[in-house]
Amino acid sequence: MTVKIAIDGPAGAGKSTVAKKLAKLLNYTYIDTGAMYRAITYKTIQQGINLTEENKIADIVQSADIILEGEKIFLDGKDISEEIRKPEVSEKVSLVSKIPKVREILVQKQRKIAEGKNVVMDGRDIGTVVLPDAQFKFYLTASLEERAKRRYSEFKTKNVNVSYYEVLKEIENRDTIDSQRDTSPLKIAEDSIVIDTTYLSEEEVLEKLYNIIKEGLKGEI
Ligand code: CDP
Ligand code: CDP
Repeated sequence: MTVKIAIDGPAGAGKSTVAKKLAKLLNYTYIDTGAMYRAITYKTIQQGINLTEENKIADIVQSADIILEGEKIFLDGKDISEEIRKPEVSEKVSLVSKIPKVREILVQKQRKIAEGKNVVMDGRDIGTVVLPDAQFKFYLTASLEERAKRRYSEFKTKNVNVSYYEVLKEIENRDTIDSQRDTSPLKIAEDSIVIDTTYLSEEEVLEKLYNIIKEGLKGEI
């Protein structure tokens, strides 16, 4: 039996931070599905494709060679881990992600990557659509202001020239599009454990998740 851990929630809730640490701790494979949507968005920008050209975008997803290697992502052989975090990608990613064909193909790829492995996968629709049978489903959230503050500090350390207000608006806009789209919107899976991380440290969140998993696996870890 393999163990699947799904972590969903809005931007800046701390999903990828805790997912990476949890994967390391358990020696599981970490799968960042957001990076895959970002990679497709990056490629559409590179090729100057308009967001209305859904068929062209579908072709891109079909042919894109996406490889996740630890915390790195390669697109058609090139390491694009840094590029996909840039504001121009963040600005468009939710619009690309709402295209049904894009989701269909990426969900298939994600299931394939997870096949036969113990995984920690983070995203928006992991517990609801990608891995509905996951043994552990978490939904991490935090106040919009706290999430914007976290993302803004990250940009500041990377010297990205963007204001707190712009960051707040960008994630608010993304949350709205992600939760209102027709195909696999961001929502809390019925059997998901919701954790509000607004007043919790990374370590506290990690401990909560780890204890739940340890209890669930009854000493197998
Ligand atoms: O790290 P951050 O929360 O900013 O975003 P991300 O996890 O890298 O995801 C970027 C975007 O990809 C999200 O805002 C969604 O539009 C989309 N996404 C999705 O639709 N489904 C997923 N499973 C993961 C990401
Ligand atoms: O993946 P998601 O967009 O949900 O969030 P993230 O990329 O993990 O970013 C969360 C940011 O908040 C990181 O800079 C973390 O260091 C910080 N943070 C956290 O992840 N969890 C907390 N409880 C507090 C802060």
